[in-house]
Amino acid sequence: MKIETSTPMANHCNNKQYDGLYPKILTPVIPLYLQATYWWAYIHPRGVRVFERQWLVNLILWGNYNRLCDAVLSDYGSQLEGNTLQIACAYGNLTPRLELNLGAQGSLDVIDILPIQLHNLAEKLQPDTRVKLHCMDSTDLKFQNQNFDHALLFFLLHEQPLDVRKKTLAEAVRVLRPGGMLTIVDYAKPRWFNPMRYIMSPILRLLEPFARDLWQSEVTAWLPENLNISLLRKQKYFGGLYQILTLKVD
Ligand SMILES: C[S@@+](CC[C@H](N)C(=O)[O-])C[C@H]1O[C@@H](n2cnc3c(N)ncnc32)[C@H](O)[C@@H]1O
Repeated sequence: MKIETSTPMANHCNNKQYDGLYPKILTPVIPLYLQATYWWAYIHPRGVRVFERQWLVNLILWGNYNRLCDAVLSDYGSQLEGNTLQIACAYGNLTPRLELNLGAQGSLDVIDILPIQLHNLAEKLQPDTRVKLHCMDSTDLKFQNQNFDHALLFFLLHEQPLDVRKKTLAEAVRVLRPGGMLTIVDYAKPRWFNPMRYIMSPILRLLEPFARDLWQSEVTAWLPENLNISLLRKQKYFGGLYQILTLKVD
């Protein structure tokens, strides 16, 4: 077993060397919204076994998983240089693909609040000293200001209550360098003619109680005020049900 502690709260696990046994004192408290709403998807070991299937994550996004990942990766380019931060793990092959695209001078840090998710991710990655996994809360990142060139939020915001979501965004912006890019992939309000709005509305209401906030507000409304953040691109997918935002922080 090898567990390195890079900061008082952040455990850095080096792919296969990580066995999931975090000292409890070093792991952040699991927030209530995660325990109450998403225990079956992320916390319970059976949930991880069930959901960690490429076809299933693709099905959950109505066949759009690869398309959304492709869009992020093509934005980053085939040689991802600089420091990249992925805020929260995701099922499927997004992070392994990011790892594959890392340039010689690139680095990838991935944080998640759940050791079980980091353990699962570690199993999917190649041993690579440029990639580091940290057990951290997205609302309290243990990184210095202006540490990263890219930050990625892949379907995290819709799972968080408003106050948590705002803190996550504030932290993502804080750790980006001037000129750094924040990429957000998440739900959005489907266009009026998209029948998915009638299918997804009850599903989200039942399973993802905070998600419909993204139908009702622009993500940019939750960004910290008084900062120079420009929206470079906003692309909608699948009749508007999904969006990718590219923001530049100055
Ligand atoms: C990125 S989101 C959704 C990913 C998407 N459903 C998928 O798998 O493609 C799921 C992750 O967010 C993590 N998460 C939720 N709240 C968090 C927080 N406050 N800090 C860090 N990670 C968090 C969960 O532990 C989970 O691993």
